[in-house]
Amino acid sequence: MTDLTSMRVSYTQGSLRRADLKADPLAQFQGWLEDALRADLPEPYALQLATADASGRPSVRTVLLRGAGPGGLSFYSNFESHKGRDLAANPQAEMIFYWAALERQVRAYGPVSRLPDSEADAYFHVRPRDSQLAAHASDPQSAPIADRNALEAKFAALSAQYPEGTVIPRPAFWGGYRVQVQEWEFWQGRQGRMHDRFRYVRAGEGWQIDRLMP
Ligand SMILES: Cc1cc2nc3c(=O)[nH]c(=O)nc-3n(C[C@H](O)[C@H](O)[C@H](O)COP(=O)(O)O)c2cc1C
Repeated sequence: MTDLTSMRVSYTQGSLRRADLKADPLAQFQGWLEDALRADLPEPYALQLATADASGRPSVRTVLLRGAGPGGLSFYSNFESHKGRDLAANPQAEMIFYWAALERQVRAYGPVSRLPDSEADAYFHVRPRDSQLAAHASDPQSAPIADRNALEAKFAALSAQYPEGTVIPRPAFWGGYRVQVQEWEFWQGRQGRMHDRFRYVRAGEGWQIDRLMP
């Protein structure tokens, strides 16, 4: 195994000063996400979502960001999955985006709620047909399944049930969540581990911004 202790990168792509920050962290995030999209990174809208169950046991996985507006940061999943069960018991989460090529990281923490059915319906039906069928087949998501054949047999049965041209209904166990962000952090890597970090915390109608020790 390679000696990892000798591997390091010096972060020199940029800097982040208080004067660079937008007053609204959502606008700051949208700007950084647009930078990541323009930089042609692979799936820059992928994020790691951390949840915890009622006992405090944490779990984390990758999901795709599907919206970022005043209502929150949204993603879609199975309500009966591990994350779905965590969120039912403990409806709060932290998200992290890491854009290595830009040497940037964003954290976003807040309470989580489900998106309205109408929004989930609209998104479900713009997904490719195979993704719609896979959402039906992967139920309950995160539960053990005997083997790959069993999963494919389920998919084939659903394909027969909903032939091309028929509408595949959104399963009741699948839909959207949004994180209403109460705390954001923007991190820009700097040389010598002297990184720039700014945290926005809700303060009444506005946001308090603090520089954090790296
Ligand atoms: C790049 C990438 C994108 C993913 N996007 C989603 C997603 O949007 N929604 C989702 O439920 N799972 C997504 N997954 C799968 C999850 O990481 C995870 O395996 C699954 O949701 C089950 O997680 P859980 O058992 O913690 O609930 C994605 C995985 C990767 C690697």
